[in-house]
Amino acid sequence: MLRLFVALDLTAEIRQRLAGLAGGVPGARWTEAENLHLTLRFIGEVPDDQAMDIDAALTEIRAPAFPLTLDGVGVFGSGRKARVLWAGVERSDALLHLQAKIESALVRCGLPAEERKFSPHVTLARLKDPPADRVGRFLSDRGLFRAGPMAVEHVTLYRSHLGNGGAVYEALREYPLAETA
Ligand code: 2AM
Repeated sequence: MLRLFVALDLTAEIRQRLAGLAGGVPGARWTEAENLHLTLRFIGEVPDDQAMDIDAALTEIRAPAFPLTLDGVGVFGSGRKARVLWAGVERSDALLHLQAKIESALVRCGLPAEERKFSPHVTLARLKDPPADRVGRFLSDRGLFRAGPMAVEHVTLYRSHLGNGGAVYEALREYPLAETA
């Protein structure tokens, strides 16, 4: 079995900028700069033969390259139940279009349709019982964060290895997006 997800890679420069947002929230587990990414579709555990079907389906996706700008920060959950601090993404029809193509390709491979609405974000930190005032201060201090635009020229199929020290992400394959005129 392989634990898979499809994501957009970020440039080293943008990952450094994002990593520079870390701090100020006690108990937060900040994502290492090298692990920062934008998940397009979490797949979960699949058998090896289905992973090969997924690879073939992703190879067939045709979508244009596009610019991506990160914009602002936010939180999933609220108060003591705040779970994730994230950086947001400027609205991009090309991103939504790409995500929808990936979703339908995966459903054609036999995966159950994703029930949750796609909410593009880059996870900066996972939280456990954080002090609400510090989360509030993080959001107001970093609210004007912007990075990019960067050119999105491929998507990546990742394998996630779960371990005691947290997940390790292994890039299995990159699928190029078509150059725009
Ligand atoms: P995230 O983007 O909010 O951090 C690998 O685990 C990636 O898949 C992470 O980026 C993670 O969330 C995303 N993901 C989405 N749904 C998930 C789930 N049910 N379990 C684990 N990871 C999930």
